[in-house]
Amino acid sequence: MRPLSVWLTLGALAGRAISSTDSIDVHWVGDTPEHHAGTTFGLPWPQGKYNFSNTDFTISGKSGEDTVPLQSWVTGYWRDGSIKWTGHAIPSLDTIDNEYTVTAKSLGGRSRANHSPDSDGITVAENKQEVKVNTGKITVSFAKHGSHIVNSIRTSNGQVVGEKGKLVLHTQSGVAEDIAARTNTSINYFDFESKIEDVSVSKETSVRTLVTVRGKHQVVAGGDHDDWLPFILRFYLYANSDSMRLVHSLVFDGKPDEDLISGLGIEFQVPLAGEELYNRHARVPGVAGGYLHEAIQGITGLRRDPGEEVRSAQYDGKATPNISTWDERVSSRMQWIPVWNDYKLSQLSPDGFTLKKRTKPGQGWVNIPGGTRSEGLIYLGGANQGGLAVGLRDFWKKYPTGLDISDAGSDTGRITLWLYSPEAAPLDLRPYHDGMGEDTYEKQLDALEITYEDYEPGFNTPYGIARTSEIFIHVLAQTPSSDDLVTLSNHVNEPPVLAATPEYIQETKALGSYWALPDTSNAKATAIENNLDFLATFYQGQIEDRRWYGFLDYGDIMHTYDEDRHTWRYDIGGYAWDNSELSPDLFFWQYFLRTGRADVYRFAETLTRHTSEVDVYHIGDWKGIGTRHGVQHFADSAKQVRISQPQYRKYFYYLSGGDERVGELLEETLDADKTYGILDPQRKVREDGWTPKPGQPAAISLGTDWAGLAGGWLIEWERRGPRWREAQRKLTSTVQGIARLKNGFVTGAGLYSASNGTLLPPPTDPDNEGLVAISHLDAVFGLPEVVSEILEYWGEENEVAKTLKAIWLDYCYYYQATAEEQEARYGKAFSGTSLIQGHSRLTAYYASLHDNATVALRAWDEFYNGADDSDGLTADAPWKTERINGSAVLIPVDEAAWLSTNAVSQYGLAAIQNLAFVGGDLEKFDG
Ligand SMILES: *[C@@H]1O[C@H](CO)[C@@H](O)[C@H](O)[C@H]1NC(C)=O
Ligand SMILES: *[C@@H]1O[C@H](CO)[C@@H](O)[C@H](O)[C@H]1NC(C)=O
Ligand SMILES: *[C@@H]1O[C@H](CO)[C@@H](O)[C@H](O)[C@H]1NC(C)=O
Ligand SMILES: *[C@@H]1O[C@H](CO)[C@@H](O)[C@H](O)[C@H]1NC(C)=O
Ligand SMILES: *[C@@H]1O[C@H](CO)[C@@H](O)[C@H](O)[C@H]1NC(C)=O
Ligand SMILES: *[C@@H]1O[C@H](CO)[C@@H](O)[C@H](O)[C@H]1NC(C)=O
Repeated sequence: MRPLSVWLTLGALAGRAISSTDSIDVHWVGDTPEHHAGTTFGLPWPQGKYNFSNTDFTISGKSGEDTVPLQSWVTGYWRDGSIKWTGHAIPSLDTIDNEYTVTAKSLGGRSRANHSPDSDGITVAENKQEVKVNTGKITVSFAKHGSHIVNSIRTSNGQVVGEKGKLVLHTQSGVAEDIAARTNTSINYFDFESKIEDVSVSKETSVRTLVTVRGKHQVVAGGDHDDWLPFILRFYLYANSDSMRLVHSLVFDGKPDEDLISGLGIEFQVPLAGEELYNRHARVPGVAGGYLHEAIQGITGLRRDPGEEVRSAQYDGKATPNISTWDERVSSRMQWIPVWNDYKLSQLSPDGFTLKKRTKPGQGWVNIPGGTRSEGLIYLGGANQGGLAVGLRDFWKKYPTGLDISDAGSDTGRITLWLYSPEAAPLDLRPYHDGMGEDTYEKQLDALEITYEDYEPGFNTPYGIARTSEIFIHVLAQTPSSDDLVTLSNHVNEPPVLAATPEYIQETKALGSYWALPDTSNAKATAIENNLDFLATFYQGQIEDRRWYGFLDYGDIMHTYDEDRHTWRYDIGGYAWDNSELSPDLFFWQYFLRTGRADVYRFAETLTRHTSEVDVYHIGDWKGIGTRHGVQHFADSAKQVRISQPQYRKYFYYLSGGDERVGELLEETLDADKTYGILDPQRKVREDGWTPKPGQPAAISLGTDWAGLAGGWLIEWERRGPRWREAQRKLTSTVQGIARLKNGFVTGAGLYSASNGTLLPPPTDPDNEGLVAISHLDAVFGLPEVVSEILEYWGEENEVAKTLKAIWLDYCYYYQATAEEQEARYGKAFSGTSLIQGHSRLTAYYASLHDNATVALRAWDEFYNGADDSDGLTADAPWKTERINGSAVLIPVDEAAWLSTNAVSQYGLAAIQNLAFVGGDLEKFDG
């Protein structure tokens, strides 16, 4: 690859006949997968290099000569219109190379060819009734109306192996508080099915076709009920693939005490007519690659032996020899051998699943020995006719889940994948306490003093939160070998991810310049690297030790530790679920960027899937904002943009090639500014008497609030989304507004008009005389990352960028300058500054941009000496865990009582960014 800097000088692209080529290595994150059913990935490009409309992209494997088909699109642009991020899809591969090379070739004046689907590509046919997608291996028909989302799934020889795929939902109108109450409550039960409202197909379809189905759940039994629980299903189909990936998203729009979800799933019918009962197979997933091998009518273990060949064929899932060849003592008595119609696997805890089967409804269930953690990919089908394998990613981690096979002895069997098992107690979204009489702000603030919970009646609502799950549907022309199922199951749980190298991503600056590759050039840097590794590994272990699993919870981490009980403070107000407090999302993603580590990628991806969905509102008055840390993800009354900060999703969005669900979530946050007209984040502590009015300018913080809004505007601008001009305008005018404030960011707040993006002085200083109102939180929810990316986006020459740079560097320098310096500059020393270690990266940024070694050493001083037991992590902290076991704890755990997630997040970000900005000065720091 040629040095990128050469190209940066080429400037504007328009009409220029630049001809250049770059070959970018992409590799699997983690091990090379054994199976590959098609992948989408993202690639960054340096500014000013490629114009999408005349660039050709190709991909080839390292080993083979053959190029692999590649679908390419833009997910982000630089300001000048050159491409910043592209998304690429490759088909299912029969031969999987360890590495690939993507070649971008600028065609000069020529336009890129409009790739018509080649013979190996996907074909899509659409009419009023259905969308039919043929990958070359399977044909799937999606309905446009009704309740059956997937009409049929066919193998290449036309055999239907699945049909009538639909969503199922069961609810109840209440819950008995205890066993005695069951006789004394009148609970109504409802059954719902999917109801399709809209079906759309991606514009480009040759390598990857995306079918998006939107709808709601419609009642089919139990009485009247409005359609509710809107869903968005995204089916991804890749050329040459015999499977589909389904990204399943739900938004909760019910009443927590009346609409209790007691079962939530997706169901497929599997045609079995024509297949002998003894040639129909159930493969039920167990632990660590284990499978239960059963036939619907078993002929092993009987008193009489049909013959070894028959028995082994059935066990292996192959068609048995013709029954006329069996030992007649068996073949004449088939009518006496039970047919097992139904199987039920229930993973009601992350520690165990139960399994049972029955001959039919009305008859007793027979227990099958279960296990600990089922890997979640179940199969039903026939030796001759094949069938479906359906699996949920992170099946046991998202308990209570389940897998059912039903009616396997009839002409049409069924597979139901339960995202929420009907065997479990209903999903309880009711508030965990009754308010305890906290009916005034005064009482709420007093309660905050003790439990750190910021409570307010009516605010502890799940209305509008969401959850996304990933489901895989594999089509099989025969019953597969169990080893093949294990391969597919690994694919479900760790879908292959392709990425560019950390070196290349860094060079492009497409995710900022505030991180660098790991630095082990000296002992101090090495110690920091070891600490970062410790932290990344520690949280992965804590998920397991603390069982941070579950339908809603999985993906989140906790906020603060309780040393006395050796537990995280899962039950104490604002100390429980972290909800992105102080930006762990940024730390873990930046740590992935610099290391490329697979474990970190999976961890961060899971975090993003949780925090972007469950901790944020997606509909209603609070659409686009999130909830502060708490015992339940939605409990706290602080509803703020700082939690829905789009910057937290940006890394995954671009690296994944523009994950469409996350893209939609980014768009939602563009409405976050409307919430300020109805909800004042400062309402409980405001002293200036200001109150919000819908449509009127609102008081916002220039730190947490503006950072979240600006982060979203920048991404919309980069993506050239439908509202990018509005986003660009608001970004520009708010920056101009902050610059007009006498004290810039130090002012702390401003009056912002969501209708036109104007930002005026705050209510406390209407005449802009100069306010000094710093908050320690302002710069710890993405502000540094967002501003530094905005500055690079606008570029050195831009006038607005120049003013932003000036006011931001002022903030960076003065936040931790001496009181004398602050007073000399602003007429007043700052108060309320803390999080010294975390803010050292602001000092480092200043030092780097001004190339000032004195300030660089100040940054390192703050990093090392600004931390104490309650703020940050010191170099002489233990940096190891302690095993707590025996009767001291419920189960043995690794404990690090010396850290909190706030400290970890800010330590991690300071470490990464200080090394990037002033790493060269670290050895000179002494003390
Ligand atoms: C990219 O090329 C097209 C076609 O030549 C041209 O119309 C467009 O202005 C170019 N875009 C940029 C950002 O230079
Ligand atoms: C039955 O329900 C009523 C109304 O909810 C309640 O007042 C009463 O205490 C309950 N009785 C028992 C035995 O639980
Ligand atoms: C099994 O053998 C019988 C008798 O030879 C024949 O009629 C039948 O078609 C065979 N069945 C299959 C499935 O081949
Ligand atoms: C923006 O709107 C506010 C009222 O919402 C108004 O006071 C202000 O003058 C407007 N600014 C511009 C530039 O139109
Ligand atoms: C570096 O910053 C310090 C503190 O503001 C200042 O006194 C000094 O002049 C600066 N040095 C250079 C070389 O700019
Ligand atoms: C607890 O852990 C320690 C250290 O790993 C070990 O030596 C000890 O045997 C364990 N005790 C129990 C009860 O498991």
